Amino acid sequence: MAASVVQLIIMTMILALSASLVIIIVGKLLFSMWVLPCLAYRKLKANGFSGPKPSFPFGNLNDIKRLKMMMTRSSSPLMSISNDIHSTAFPYFSLWQKLYGKVMVYWVGTEPFLYIADPEFLKEMAADIKGKGWGKPNVFKHDREPMFGSGLVMVEGDDWVRHRHVITPAFSPANLKAMGGLMVESTTHMLDRWAGLINSGQSEIDVEREIIRTAGEIIAKTSFGISYENGREVLEKLREMQFTLFESNRYVGVPFGKFLNLKETLKAKALGKEIDGLLWSIISDRRKNPPTSGEPEKDLLGLLMADNTVDGRKKRELTTKELVDECKTFFFAGHETTSLLLTWTLLLLAVHPEWQNDLREEINQVLGDGGEIRDVSMLAGLKKMGWVMNEVLRLYPPAPNVQRQSRQEIQVGEVVIPNGTNMWIDVVSMHHDEKLWGKDVHEFKPERFNANIYGGCNHKMGFLPFGFGGRMCVGRNLTAMEYRIVLTRILSTFSFSLSPNYRHQPSHMLSLRPMHGLPLIFKPLPIN
Ligand code: HEM
Repeated sequence: MAASVVQLIIMTMILALSASLVIIIVGKLLFSMWVLPCLAYRKLKANGFSGPKPSFPFGNLNDIKRLKMMMTRSSSPLMSISNDIHSTAFPYFSLWQKLYGKVMVYWVGTEPFLYIADPEFLKEMAADIKGKGWGKPNVFKHDREPMFGSGLVMVEGDDWVRHRHVITPAFSPANLKAMGGLMVESTTHMLDRWAGLINSGQSEIDVEREIIRTAGEIIAKTSFGISYENGREVLEKLREMQFTLFESNRYVGVPFGKFLNLKETLKAKALGKEIDGLLWSIISDRRKNPPTSGEPEKDLLGLLMADNTVDGRKKRELTTKELVDECKTFFFAGHETTSLLLTWTLLLLAVHPEWQNDLREEINQVLGDGGEIRDVSMLAGLKKMGWVMNEVLRLYPPAPNVQRQSRQEIQVGEVVIPNGTNMWIDVVSMHHDEKLWGKDVHEFKPERFNANIYGGCNHKMGFLPFGFGGRMCVGRNLTAMEYRIVLTRILSTFSFSLSPNYRHQPSHMLSLRPMHGLPLIFKPLPIN
């Protein structure tokens, strides 16, 4: 009898303990996933920031999905090309801006985000913060771990300083120049392929697919010294990961959201592991078979691994895991954005044949008839091509937003942005803001960049295709060179126009892509 009373007491105690444990866990979860964000939100509200009403636990994700869906359904196959893309690619931001202004708060699950489309606010906010002082939203760092790991795009603080110091010299003008020959070679392969298709009677080519393949080939060679065939597996898996992470309607920022999209989460993880394995073996091979001494390090990986010294001291090295993450970052950031910049350029040049002619004339003047690239340093003379590049970066920025997380309280005028606040800087909105650019804001007018690096924008923070401050894109000069090489060769070989099969639907999938590809009709130019 006494024994059963003791048993009962023990059972009751265990039950009580388990119940309190559950209450503590649930309480802690609620506190960190709801109370803390709510406090942050209230603080932001108290500072005068308003925004769309969130609902627990999805925040404004359902509004975003609904508005996106409405836009996709209502968009008919468009034959008239409008460059006024903010309200079609980002209908939710466009609507909220009208209701709450250019600085507001919206929610990604239980994560409040400060939305910024006002360059003056951005300037004041960023004035005293160095690259090292910025964070990247933790919610994205976790979600995109399989894609970027702790590569330069995501890393913070002293680690960011170390990575950036190792990586920046790899993009020096001398190293870039050495990559020029590889770029010309890959472009020639692509144009030979196009000539073959045209000769066999197929004059319509999906340029988006073709250019992304060539940019992949270029990054495989310039980053890793490997052929497209060897790099293809990494590129294909990265692309699959991009579609898995960004195409499906995932619940990023929602507590346990991973379980709502279990299939996609597991797939992204598995792809991440496979990519890491492939890159790990490329790096191990390189460690086992280093280039013979005296041979210059031509590709980015070789430059990052080189056992050299800076100012007599040994260079700050990256571990193999860090190298793997940087390689993933280069592979993805290095080919996707550049190929989209070229793709959007070909669209706009197809619609504006007068600019095709202008650029051809400039190429002939700077490089001679036929546009052969014998010395890449001559490409700097292609001034009009530089204006066209900037105008395309303005109208169709391949990286349509910049993200930050504050790692300290930031005072902006009268208001305070609390430590830990996520930020979403809407580059597309600023690039399409009539108040910043004037009435012709949506028109393709490359000449606005003639003798004006801000394109006549009335605010220096209104044109941000490569981001801002110390964290500005490290690959922008590589892009500028690849852009000039590929475009010069295409314009010197073919003329092109838009296919009637093109449907104009710029859409956001991490980068800004033409949803239905870019079919163009090509004609070989007469040989002089
Ligand atoms: C059209 C081409 C490109 C565009 C539009 C672009 C755009 C951007 C943007 C907007 C950022 C964020 C900057 C910020 O947070 O303030 C960035 C960062 C970065 N980009 Fe690019 N990028 C391009 C090409 C490249 C290439 C070719 C590479 C490498 C081969 C590259 C590697 C990186 C890296 C590593 C970062 C992180 C820099 C840091 O946080 O310190 N990008 N890029």
